[in-house]
Amino acid sequence: MSIRIAVIGAGIMGQDHARIIAREVPGATLQLICDPSPGRARAVADQFGAVDASHDPLHAIARADVDAVIIASPDDTHASLAMAAISAGKPALCEKPLSQSPDECLAVIDRETSLGRQFIQLGFMRRFDPSYREMKHALDTGLIGRAVMMHNFHRNVEAPANFSGQMAISNSAPHEFDVARHVLGTEYSAIAVFQPARSSSTGVGAPVFMVLETRDGHLVNIEVNNNAAYGYDVRGELVGEQGSIELAAPVQARVNRHLHAGHRYAADWRPRFADAYRLQDQAFLEFVTTGVFPAQAANAWDGYCAASVAQAGIQALNEGRRVTLHSLATPALYLSRQGARP
Ligand SMILES: NC(=O)c1ccc[n+]([C@@H]2O[C@H](COP(=O)([O-])OP(=O)(O)OC[C@H]3O[C@@H](n4cnc5c(N)ncnc54)[C@H](O)[C@@H]3O)[C@@H](O)[C@H]2O)c1
Repeated sequence: MSIRIAVIGAGIMGQDHARIIAREVPGATLQLICDPSPGRARAVADQFGAVDASHDPLHAIARADVDAVIIASPDDTHASLAMAAISAGKPALCEKPLSQSPDECLAVIDRETSLGRQFIQLGFMRRFDPSYREMKHALDTGLIGRAVMMHNFHRNVEAPANFSGQMAISNSAPHEFDVARHVLGTEYSAIAVFQPARSSSTGVGAPVFMVLETRDGHLVNIEVNNNAAYGYDVRGELVGEQGSIELAAPVQARVNRHLHAGHRYAADWRPRFADAYRLQDQAFLEFVTTGVFPAQAANAWDGYCAASVAQAGIQALNEGRRVTLHSLATPALYLSRQGARP
């Protein structure tokens, strides 16, 4: 039987999930597109052949003809919609972040632990990206020896005018917070944040440079530069005691002309992580179908960890000092990384 999926939020990410579910996830039916803008919901439903369109997210989640949901609405709606999915007994793939508030993340975790089941797969899709997977495999199999440092670069072409250093930490950097923690298999112990000067005196839109320490003594640096001007560009290098491994972005062709060789950059994240989004959504269908939480996917606890680091990072930025992190013990539900059958 095909799994009927509702996509909540029909913006950039909702449209991408709708396309993937309709065309790249065998066994799934794109049942419903929901957006407060009825025109947008209907247009996206028509574009990808959804069965229906709606403007009420809570009603959409509760509908009897919906088996599972993908939450792709703005950040501040994720936790409450995740709670609604849990209350309806339906698995949800929730875009990152689970919440920017660690306390809101803990409320979702409390709900799952009290039910003894995981419902929320979190959209930290880089865990599914083949180049990050190879990096993790290289570390886990001893290819580069003990890890010592991980360098991360996250660059966008241009951010909206109001995109502050704080938002770079709370909205952009959680991908790096999560994937570096996932690759290294450890927890952060401290964070310091720096900003270089830019030609604009406001500081808004200036790059953010973070240095994190882990409990196991690794150093992780993260540059988030949302006004890099030239293209969407994510880089990473894991340095071990016996070698290093770098991410290689999928590049299909090289252009040679006028004494130069080069390749194109995408304007945003979707082409760079197309494989990751597809593999993530396919893993979600597997989760819905089998009830077994995908071993490498992020869960609600991972969402809490990312939100806690982001909160500490904002404090470090605002106070101009290194902030130490004291994380809670991981609840037993999330230790095995296997959920019960929904
Ligand atoms: N995983 C990734 O790589 C990645 C990349 C970009 C964005 N995101 C996340 O995805 C989410 C959506 O981002 P986007 O770029 O698609 O935003 P967007 O602004 O393009 O789209 C958001 C859509 O949600 C709708 N919406 C607003 N409130 C809603 C509600 N209460 N219920 C349902 N729909 C509602 C809006 O009308 C809009 O159509 C954000 O949380 C963002 O952080 C993740």
